[in-house]
Amino acid sequence: MTNELVLIFDFGSQFGQLIARRVREQNVFCQVVRHDLPAARVKELNPKGIILSGGPASVYEPGAPHCDPKIFDLGIPVLGICYGMQLACHFLGGKVGGTAHTREYGRATLTVNDPNTIFQGYPTESTVWMSHGDQVQNVSGDFEALAATDTCPLAAIKHKSRPLFGIQFHLEVAHTPHGGLILANFLRDVCGCTGQWKMQAFIDSTVTDIKAKVGKKRVICGLSGGVDSSVCAALLLKAIGPQVACIYVDNGLMRAGETEVVRHTFKDWFKADLHVVDAKDRFLSALKGVVDPQEKRKIIGGVFIDVFKHEAKSIPDARFLAQGTLYPDVIESGGAVDGPAATIKLHHNVGGLPTELGFELIEPLRDLFKDEVRRLGLELGLPEDVVWRHPFPGPGLAVRCLGEVTEEKLATLRKADTIFLEELRKAGLYRKTAQAFAVLLPVQSVGVMGDGRTYENAICLRCVQTDDFMTADWSRLPEDLLARVATAIINKVKGVNRIVYDISSKPPATIEWE
Ligand code: XMP
Repeated sequence: MTNELVLIFDFGSQFGQLIARRVREQNVFCQVVRHDLPAARVKELNPKGIILSGGPASVYEPGAPHCDPKIFDLGIPVLGICYGMQLACHFLGGKVGGTAHTREYGRATLTVNDPNTIFQGYPTESTVWMSHGDQVQNVSGDFEALAATDTCPLAAIKHKSRPLFGIQFHLEVAHTPHGGLILANFLRDVCGCTGQWKMQAFIDSTVTDIKAKVGKKRVICGLSGGVDSSVCAALLLKAIGPQVACIYVDNGLMRAGETEVVRHTFKDWFKADLHVVDAKDRFLSALKGVVDPQEKRKIIGGVFIDVFKHEAKSIPDARFLAQGTLYPDVIESGGAVDGPAATIKLHHNVGGLPTELGFELIEPLRDLFKDEVRRLGLELGLPEDVVWRHPFPGPGLAVRCLGEVTEEKLATLRKADTIFLEELRKAGLYRKTAQAFAVLLPVQSVGVMGDGRTYENAICLRCVQTDDFMTADWSRLPEDLLARVATAIINKVKGVNRIVYDISSKPPATIEWE
């Protein structure tokens, strides 16, 4: 992909992904790998540098995760962070033990004694973030100390003859305000990285890889209307154009205009071989009478697989199935990319399908973070609307239409949702919020319209701020925007007489209502 690769060895740190982020911010490509990746494999991958992450274990405990000690003999620069530093010292001449306190956690003041190499341009005194139980207590004469804190005399060290550095604090977190400088110094001056990793380089090398892998066979790419599958398809179309067959299943649970956007983008614009499968009736009849949310999900997933499989079988010469799995999906569950235990969180929609259909899997986005996927999408010519789309759940409006799903309820929900999103866009707040939508509540309430009383539906507006969707806070939308949305929905959507705004955070609530 690029000759400037940095490997991050994962020892179970909660910050592994963050280290990867920080390296990418220096325009250097990196991958998180298993902690025990053999030195021979490291040599083959030929990285410019290695970063050993932190981790919760003690290096001297039986069963603690170790790296192959031969990686230190490859001549590749190594930066050990916290546990990674302790491990390097454990192997190369140092004593690791518990701190005076059982555990040091929080801010500390770092004093730099040697303002060279990784500390070039670094303030003599600065704040760093500590989170450790053990620390390096003494080192052999092969090492020298670069920086210290009150409680940690060896807060940063360097090997005298090897390109090896260790830091006890966490440079990757925001609480270490100058951490990026240490990383930049390490990558540039120790590893010799030029920081040239750009999206175009990714496109070029991925296109070459896809062509080499696929040959003359065809690739099926499922489109959901979301960002990841759209970017994945656009990348494949760039690489092998007519060999790609896109399948979009219209389950009748999409938002207003969604199918048309997919059709317009991929058929009219990218000239893709797009198969839009109209399966609305199948989904709706399977959902008839079902009120339990998990039951709805199960039914939708099952029908989807049937419909997708049927369509896929009709495409001759198809050998591959493409999925828009992203980097966080890969490391979330497995913790590492390269190695036998790497487990991949398959997209809920097509999980298990590739093997069942005898397809080989292609995941061209598996090295990218979400914001990188968006940048890639724009570079590939996808419309901004598609690239900046909020996430949308696989079961679609079925989990926003509480209780039984009917065509009539879906139509009401769609209209309200469209009004909310349009107003949010007009107010310039769509991109500033993580997810916004309407929910049709399963209650009727009394209202008054003109001279008469009404007994109609209530719509809830939900809008949240979040980076990772694991936790979320409700968006403090301007009052006048909420008022405009409420008035517009009540005036324009028949059967709705009440609007509420959801002010619960996650946890304890979830983002969706079902
Ligand atoms: P919750 O409601 O769990 O949602 O806070 C977190 C994120 O996941 C999305 N979500 C789903 N996505 N299938 C999906 O593909 C689902 O069944 C599903 N349920 C929730 C939700 O929209 C939010 O972005």
